[in-house]
Amino acid sequence: MKKIIKNCFSLRGRSSMGGRLVGATLVLAMMAGVITTGCAGKGTKSEEIKIGVVVYDEYDTFVSQLIDVFMEDVSEKKQEGSKITVERRGSAGSQITQNQQVDELIKAGCDVICVNLVDRTDPAMIIEAARAADVPVIFFNRELVNQDLYSWDRLYYVGADAYDSGNIEGQIAADAFRDNPSMDKNKDGKISLVVLEGEPGHQDAIIRTEYSVSTIMDSGIEVDKLESGIANWKRSEAQSKMGQMIDKYGDDIELVLANNDDMALGAIDEYESRNITFSKRPAIVGIDGTREGLAAVESGSMLGTVYNDKEGQGKAMLVLAMAVADGHDIVGDLDQYADLMDGKYIRFPYARVTRDNVSDYMQ
Ligand code: GAL
Repeated sequence: MKKIIKNCFSLRGRSSMGGRLVGATLVLAMMAGVITTGCAGKGTKSEEIKIGVVVYDEYDTFVSQLIDVFMEDVSEKKQEGSKITVERRGSAGSQITQNQQVDELIKAGCDVICVNLVDRTDPAMIIEAARAADVPVIFFNRELVNQDLYSWDRLYYVGADAYDSGNIEGQIAADAFRDNPSMDKNKDGKISLVVLEGEPGHQDAIIRTEYSVSTIMDSGIEVDKLESGIANWKRSEAQSKMGQMIDKYGDDIELVLANNDDMALGAIDEYESRNITFSKRPAIVGIDGTREGLAAVESGSMLGTVYNDKEGQGKAMLVLAMAVADGHDIVGDLDQYADLMDGKYIRFPYARVTRDNVSDYMQ
């Protein structure tokens, strides 16, 4: 069976990391679904598969890096002889634009569409259009509410476990605080922290904000949450928010918990621009493990990050897209595998990254 899987899709071994292992297992599991059709059908040498990919904002760092990985996997598959075309669109933050783009992609003959919703509470038009044309949709990264996902059986979600990301971020901070008492600058036995939040209403922003802080408290460390500010995942917005917080709290800030790496980098930019030296800065933690985020962990300007497995998510999206485009009973094929939860959800775990293991992630 493994031999057949290899012929269908080569898995490049990156299994040294936990997330990768789960990812590889998932892909193997999913490929088993494809194997039930003997690798025949769309996407093989004889028949072409057309995949539409629409992202909420083409300038979002993590989402762009995820799509880069997806496109690398597509190229790999093409080199193996499969005929795949990918039509990409960026919705520039407008749900109305995104609805139109999905309509166009359906009319252009896409067999499946991968959608990174602008407004995760408003997928109705997309679902209606897809259902009318019988084109399956894989939502990713921005999680729709489950009633919407369950409103038709050809809808799926690929993402990561947001609770995990908040917990791990909190653990990185709590461990550092315990191992390094100098982090408690005013020696009051508490961590005084600020939070830089992603978009309001985004599942990751809500959960990360809550769980990063509660994990520190659950570990027995007292917390003084000075302020929480929205910076919409963006580096420049985070820099200006951080500026306002520094003006207000100065040296009292001992920890910055950012909902993603770009915002952690924005906080670092602000400390840099004020020429505040490393030893005088608070510890700064991010989430994603983007290329720039990992470089900051390596250099020591960021205490740590939480790896958002873009390789796993990108590959799962492609394998699932190819399988569902074929129109066979992929849910039935995959249901026996824990990784496709309830025949609907694929969620990858996050992983802790600090200076000790960052080189594993930089390859
Ligand atoms: C999150 C990611 C953020 C941002 C957001 C967009 O999962 O951590 O950096 O990309 O998705 O939806």
